[in-house]
Amino acid sequence: MKKFLALALSLVMALSLVACGGSSTEEPADEGETAESGETGGETGGSGKIGIAMPTKSLERWNRDGSYLQEQFESAGYEVELTYSDNDVTQQVNDIENLISDGVDLLIVAAIDGESLTTVLDSADEAGIPVISYDRLIMNTKAIDYYVSFDNYTVGVLQGQYVIDTLGLDLNDTSKTYNIEFTAGDPADNNAPFFFNGAFDTLKPYIDAGILNIVSGQTAFEEVATATWDTATAMNRMQNILASYYSDGTQLDVALCSNDSTALGVTQAIESDYAGSNQPIITGQDGDEANLKNIVDSKQSMTVYKAVANEAVVTLALAQAILNGEQPGEELTSQFDCECAYDTSSYDNNTGIIPSYLLTPTVVTADNIQEELVDTGYYTMGSDGYPVAVG
Ligand code: GAL
Repeated sequence: MKKFLALALSLVMALSLVACGGSSTEEPADEGETAESGETGGETGGSGKIGIAMPTKSLERWNRDGSYLQEQFESAGYEVELTYSDNDVTQQVNDIENLISDGVDLLIVAAIDGESLTTVLDSADEAGIPVISYDRLIMNTKAIDYYVSFDNYTVGVLQGQYVIDTLGLDLNDTSKTYNIEFTAGDPADNNAPFFFNGAFDTLKPYIDAGILNIVSGQTAFEEVATATWDTATAMNRMQNILASYYSDGTQLDVALCSNDSTALGVTQAIESDYAGSNQPIITGQDGDEANLKNIVDSKQSMTVYKAVANEAVVTLALAQAILNGEQPGEELTSQFDCECAYDTSSYDNNTGIIPSYLLTPTVVTADNIQEELVDTGYYTMGSDGYPVAVG
């Protein structure tokens, strides 16, 4: 009976990955390199060359994004050129220039700095190359045809709501107060203010009521931002806050971090420099392996998981429609098994609203890691009890 159940589960996992997301065994390009694909003209008859520009390999999720995108497009018959630009803006501009000169038929770009690609993408526009802004909105250029991401504001709302639910906050009960600090993302990343504002707006009623207290007084995005999402930068800032405001025994109840790389640094700071006996709530985003380990070990409370395998499926369908000469809209979302909204109001890149396809993020805690990450096939569970990402 057990063997049958195991077989059934593996079949379900395979189908769920195929249904709206796929794993890949492909090794993505090395940092600063371009990965050439195999032959064009695969099973589904797609043809053409796709240029994919990812920001870096040093932030874990982008390795999966590149791998899933390459897998999806090659499986559909396209030739793929995949670049990683080591979080170096100049290198990303050069990489995109090279993709354009290599004659790609469509560009998929996850910007390092959303305001740094105007000139190079204007040249893509002049060359008639469609551009999909991937995950992070690219600003100040009419070259962007569509934006594919997750609902970035909702990522922050989920983090804020997790704090409310976990602490049992009640606006009618101001007898119990809690101390909170915020760590936001990279100011060059158009997503970062959406994450921060989603969380801050959700918690603001409790801050205004004096139930949540930001002891450092650092409440503006610019004050709590973390350049390049860097773990050490987040750690150093939290160490300074702990030394300045919590060394007198003040309790820290919540460290709200916008993503896992910053949460890792904040957790390290708390482990090394926080004298309190309690375990503060620590939030994150992305399901990075080190952070999932910390969640299993109760050092981090939650992460907001974004199934980038599904983001790749949506991006492929959108690209195919564009290359077929269509102007897709709401109807494209009916193709997907995963939740995906068509949005024509939230994302203005300073040249006008960019039509967007926004997938739905998910809260992952120690209680649902198995169901949300392993049973879905996105991770396997290691023999040590810690999840390992697939693809
Ligand atoms: C954001 C992305 C998040 C976050 C960060 C680090 O733009 O949407 O997943 O992790 O970059 O790469």
